[in-house]
Amino acid sequence: MKVTICIGSACHLRGSKEIIQKMQQLVKTHNVSDKVDLNGAFCSGNCVNGVCVTVDGELFSLSPETTESFFEKEIMGRL
Ligand code: FES
Repeated sequence: MKVTICIGSACHLRGSKEIIQKMQQLVKTHNVSDKVDLNGAFCSGNCVNGVCVTVDGELFSLSPETTESFFEKEIMGRL
């Protein structure tokens, strides 16, 4: 599964770095690093909605606060 987190400037200001760190931690604690491929990406033009994250091409908007529930639902829920 390919997960891409925007590291463009607007998303960076909204906490994309924190989201990446949380995701890395979650991947580790769930032991799914062989299944989840975390990537950074530049602006995808969706900055207005918050930090832009795609899961196999499907677009989501996250904030650091929603990262954990997102991970449980959209990532663990699809594995
Ligand atoms: S900076 Fe992230 S979508 Fe634009």
